[in-house]
Amino acid sequence: MSACSLDETAIDLLVPAFYARVRADALLGPIFESAIDDWPHHLAKLKDFWSSVMLASGRYKGQPMPAHIRHERALSEEAFARWLAIWRETTDELLAPAVARAFQDKAARIAESLQLGMQFHRER
Ligand code: HEM
Repeated sequence: MSACSLDETAIDLLVPAFYARVRADALLGPIFESAIDDWPHHLAKLKDFWSSVMLASGRYKGQPMPAHIRHERALSEEAFARWLAIWRETTDELLAPAVARAFQDKAARIAESLQLGMQFHRER
């Protein structure tokens, strides 16, 4: 199945598929398994996040920066590269090309700002 437009259906399809792959990944799986107890809650939160980011729904009220700074020792450059590779793979497989591209560009920008934030935090 492929979602043609950028809407809630695309997000509902994408988020669980992405985290299923992340959990099965040798590098990322253990990081997430040790940090997350309640997967349905995490998936619902990440659907809200992407809905806010891509559709301006305002559903996500959290703060991604401290959530990642908490785990900064595990979040290497290699881990980010893997996260983005799995994101690219999942979006390319599930979404129409233009929609996949929009999700990929956004994720790359957010990943960069998370990495800059963690770097700033380390240097303080
Ligand atoms: C939360 C890991 C990259 C978005 C989390 C949590 C973990 C995690 C373990 C749960 C934190 C906690 O509750 O203690 C990672 C890893 C990444 C990565 C290993 C790459 C190396 C990203 C990227 C984005 C993102 C690139 C966005 C494009 C989020 C959001 C949350 C979250 C929105 C929820 C924060 C909250 O609690 O409100 N991530 N993450 N993550 N992540 Fe990531």
